[in-house]
Amino acid sequence: PVLVVDFGAQYAQLIARRVREAKVYSEIVPHSMPVAEMLAKDPAAIILSGGPASVYAPGAPQVDAKLFDAGVPVFGICYGFQAMARALGGTVAHTGDREYGGTVLATRPDASVLLRDLPGEVSVWMSHGDCVTEAPPGFAVTAGTTVTPVAAFEDVAGRRAGVQFHPEVAHTAHGQEMLTRFLYDIAGIEPTWTMGNIIDDQVAAIREQVGEKEVICALSGGVDSAVAAALVHKAVGDQLTCVFVDHGLLRAGEAEQVEQDYVAATGIKLKVVDAADRFLGALAGVTDPEEKRKIIGREFIRVFEVAAREVAAAGDVEFLVQGTLYPDVVESGGGTGTANIKSHHNVGGLPDDLRFSLVEPLRTLFKDEVRQLGLSLGLPEAMVWRHPFPGPGLAIRIIGAVSSDRLELLRAADLIAREELTAAGLDRSVWQFPVVLLADVRSVGVQGDGRTYGHPIVLRPVSSEDAMTADWSRLPYDVIARISTRITNEVPEVNRVVLDVTSKPPGTIEWE
Ligand code: XMP
Repeated sequence: PVLVVDFGAQYAQLIARRVREAKVYSEIVPHSMPVAEMLAKDPAAIILSGGPASVYAPGAPQVDAKLFDAGVPVFGICYGFQAMARALGGTVAHTGDREYGGTVLATRPDASVLLRDLPGEVSVWMSHGDCVTEAPPGFAVTAGTTVTPVAAFEDVAGRRAGVQFHPEVAHTAHGQEMLTRFLYDIAGIEPTWTMGNIIDDQVAAIREQVGEKEVICALSGGVDSAVAAALVHKAVGDQLTCVFVDHGLLRAGEAEQVEQDYVAATGIKLKVVDAADRFLGALAGVTDPEEKRKIIGREFIRVFEVAAREVAAAGDVEFLVQGTLYPDVVESGGGTGTANIKSHHNVGGLPDDLRFSLVEPLRTLFKDEVRQLGLSLGLPEAMVWRHPFPGPGLAIRIIGAVSSDRLELLRAADLIAREELTAAGLDRSVWQFPVVLLADVRSVGVQGDGRTYGHPIVLRPVSSEDAMTADWSRLPYDVIARISTRITNEVPEVNRVVLDVTSKPPGTIEWE
């Protein structure tokens, strides 16, 4: 792999993704990892990421010089660039000049492999206080800015290069080309991380792990479990049984999508448990959001347990598929073994006699790769591009107690919002679009000749990178207008549509 050494910046995951976009496999490792351990991974190259510290600050993470003695190609970015300069005998100074945001970089494309064929001036994204004032011996300086005389250097024979700016961010023009030049032309790496290879590797790994045993998987309707199961099915066929617990809290058409489209696309053996009545019964009269979550989580495990016992009774089931993704692995310390329990769909609460070993075929993948994989495996587009949807489903989008009437009403409004968003071609520019029913609120309206006393619907379209923070989406007014008109016309009992214009923080994405 290419190792991305994380110096504590938010950029390491982005760098790792960019490397993979160049069809080269990457892994993130903490800067505290000893060099010997990094080298034991037989890295094709090492990328030192940016980080918040000054290289001269007490306790600042340093780069162990042994890393440069190993003959592995190295690329330093921002803090990693400075740490590299310092470790190799260059100078880093605290000039007092800070440089944040977009800056014009003057390049010497003729004197550079990294910047070859680029324009003489490139707009790049900077974020630093300290500055390299002298490149290490043997390095050519290939770019600078008015504030930063040494903004890029390279030692092509030594297969090392570095840049002060952030080539991984979209604000840096030609950033991906620079990363690619480093990987292909300086480090000499072949682009072999392709969907075909990922599938072949994973299929082989799953077969090796599972052998002749049976495997079970809980489908949620979401993309991760769907792709994980499809991959396992490709590897071991009918040794896999999927269980879909229909809790009756999905949106219009979603249960059918799992039961029909998904099965048609994959040929997977599917056991559907229609548990809508049971979930509705357990939720009757409950208004507290956390109480709703607890009830749904508990009921899910009970229902899944019964289904799993039935499947297990019929065969030698030893494995459970989980759709754990790489960001979860990195965020939980990058450790091996223990799965990170994220939602109620992770059936961590199963009784001891039903403990399974985990199969986690997506553990090394980012979300965009999972989507590509899903498409390569032939899953329906609508499923692959589905927006994130909370495990407790529409229950936490009905503000008030959940009932089948209220669910029906919300489903109708939600479907209209989704249809109009899709018709406007905006599905991919919105991260998520919760539609919320204020079931315990009524407001006065007028329709036809009569006064109405109905419920408001809240539209909550948001843009986000990872759901940790979010901003409300500036949807075109005419799209919002169409949604509003259609909902008030087509959904009885709704006489008002409002738009949520709160970012996260302070608001969460969901209303409960
Ligand atoms: P919030 O509302 O906390 O949501 O901003 C962040 C992301 O998590 C989803 N979400 C959930 N997902 N079980 C889930 O599986 C839950 O209980 C849950 N609550 C929120 C939400 O849809 C958003 O993507």
